Amino acid sequence: MTPKAFSSIKLRGLELKNRFIKTATYEGMSKNGVPDERLFKFHAEMTAHDVALTTVAYGAVNEDGLTNEDQMVIDDSAMPYLKQLSDAVHEKGGKISIQLTHCGYFTRSTRYQSRKPLGPSRTLNKYGIMKRRPYSRAMTKEEIQLTVKDFANAAMISKQSGFDAIEVHLGHGYLLSQFLSPAINKRDDAYGGSLQNRARFALEVVDAVRLVVGEDVPVLCKLNLEDGFKNGFSLTDCIDTVKMLEGHGVDAVILSGGFTSLTPFYLMRGEIPLKEMVESEPNYLQKAALRFFGRAIIRKYEFSGNFFLPLTKQLRKRTDMPLVYVGGVISAEGIQEVMDAGFDMIAIGRALIAEPDFIQKVKNDADHKSPCDQCNICVGYMEKTGVRCVL
Ligand SMILES: Cc1cc2nc3c(=O)[nH]c(=O)nc-3n(C[C@H](O)[C@H](O)[C@H](O)COP(=O)(O)O)c2cc1C
Repeated sequence: MTPKAFSSIKLRGLELKNRFIKTATYEGMSKNGVPDERLFKFHAEMTAHDVALTTVAYGAVNEDGLTNEDQMVIDDSAMPYLKQLSDAVHEKGGKISIQLTHCGYFTRSTRYQSRKPLGPSRTLNKYGIMKRRPYSRAMTKEEIQLTVKDFANAAMISKQSGFDAIEVHLGHGYLLSQFLSPAINKRDDAYGGSLQNRARFALEVVDAVRLVVGEDVPVLCKLNLEDGFKNGFSLTDCIDTVKMLEGHGVDAVILSGGFTSLTPFYLMRGEIPLKEMVESEPNYLQKAALRFFGRAIIRKYEFSGNFFLPLTKQLRKRTDMPLVYVGGVISAEGIQEVMDAGFDMIAIGRALIAEPDFIQKVKNDADHKSPCDQCNICVGYMEKTGVRCVL
């Protein structure tokens, strides 16, 4: 195993003991938006086993940004449990980040400020049909500005609660990714059209976050390499967006892909846990629709180790900016491959859900391979029982 993977790295004022990040995986451990003991333990355990930086998810910046009611809204009321979370991680010698996000048009939450889901443009919200929120509407400029402020406020609260880094979610088809995507963003104002315009909202968020967290706290962004469907955000868009993010003082970009409402398994690959998704679905009509049409509407993508490496390598050649690789890291050999390709850090999801001590295992055994077989039942059950590996 390359010593580089276990060498420290500095992002602004934050020194990380190695190159491993526990990537954001919505934990589903905050009933009615209030986390329980399991969430504290989950992140403490990651860092106790040598993950340098663990990422808490889902951190909605306001009520409109919730996909469901069991997610945290990062406002003043969240401070006590955010503090508990950061303390739990710091006690184990680790560092903690939070993924700040807004779901935009795809929501089925019944907690909201705006009756209609908000997005760049009017769009069918198939997740919200049963909750009588079937269509989104285009955000006004005032709503965009208020949301920028909400991102900044959430970042400030996270910092004040002891978080060491902030991750802004620009990927996976969430609000800022919806604005970036030419297939979804049909606006003809300063926030639509050219990439410069589509990226405006994201850049305003990044600037506002930087302003409140100061010069010492690293700001990371998770960004799509591509949306994974025709006319979506492309690799060319990604390359240009990374340059813009660098110009706006972003410290590292986590490269992923896919659009949760359209190509949800593009970002994970592997099996579609339909049985578990049906079981977890609370609405009986939605349950029936999923059972009968799930196979037809949810596309499957074959898994392979380091599945985003070919695309990310193309980007690596074009920028010196710190890049975080994520996607299918399941073995010591895979880690070596990512490091050899010149990435600065590695973010890992399922291999750490399966084995919180995965990093220690690869450190001690160059042949170690995760038992994760990409059954993705962790995804199927995340909302029902909290994220966990069934193996
Ligand atoms: C259970 C589960 C929940 C996830 N939730 C999120 C999330 O809240 N935010 C996010 O950016 N990605 C989320 N992802 C995607 C992961 O961050 C990651 O991009 C993806 O799983 C690929 O990495 P892996 O192969 O190491 O698992 C989730 C993945 C899983 C398995």
